[in-house]
Amino acid sequence: MTTASDNSAAKCYALVPCAGVGERAGAGGPKQYREIAGTTVVAHTLAALARVPRVAKTLVVLAADDGEFAARAPAFAGWADPCGGATRAGSVAAGLEALARRGARDRDWVLVHDAARCLVRPSAIERLIDACIDDAVGGLLALPLSDTLKQAGEGERVAQTLDRSGKWTAQTPQMFRLGLLRRALAQAGDNITDEASAIEALGHAPRLVRGEPDNFKLTWPADFALAERLLRTTP
Ligand code: C5P
Repeated sequence: MTTASDNSAAKCYALVPCAGVGERAGAGGPKQYREIAGTTVVAHTLAALARVPRVAKTLVVLAADDGEFAARAPAFAGWADPCGGATRAGSVAAGLEALARRGARDRDWVLVHDAARCLVRPSAIERLIDACIDDAVGGLLALPLSDTLKQAGEGERVAQTLDRSGKWTAQTPQMFRLGLLRRALAQAGDNITDEASAIEALGHAPRLVRGEPDNFKLTWPADFALAERLLRTTP
């Protein structure tokens, strides 16, 4: 059905996959619900997104049996949907359907952002939107690789040193139009670890937008202490 709103400018939505168990982060429950610097990881993440005026609404994807989110992010004013899947890709794909059910259109932009990247700065999200809003494909925050890159072999010994030139590490948010991303994820299946790789598999070249080193994904036990220090010292 065509409605008057179909002709309005494309909106930006944020989609936050928050349905993981975070096995690599060690004991203590899902990493997005761990407390750092006075509140939970996911509450920091959602507060950063809420400070970006061009993000019209945020949808958080929860695990089907999630009983914690409301208590762990009490200030959140967006949508939460318990449609999480077994993998991150499955959670994102289900989240796109949930956005569409709530009125998001194929040409609207979706910024997919990991709940576990709680140090993202609103200014970096603004930079991503500025770079992608008129782009045919979309793009992602990423960082040029600065360290030398090793391929591990047997017993955690170096098998090979890889050429690092031209290599970037992918962060989030990753910003694509809902319709394109839906099609890309349906074709890519469950094994991809970011949205851009699904878009690439359709033959597109997402734009690399320079991010910041502190927008790392809390993954290992030591990441939590580092994130705490940064959150307590960043204005
Ligand atoms: O496990 P990983 O660090 O790759 O998770 C990245 C993000 O994806 C986290 O915010 C996590 O909660 C989310 N995720 C999800 N559904 C899964 C697995 C991960 O929403 N099945």
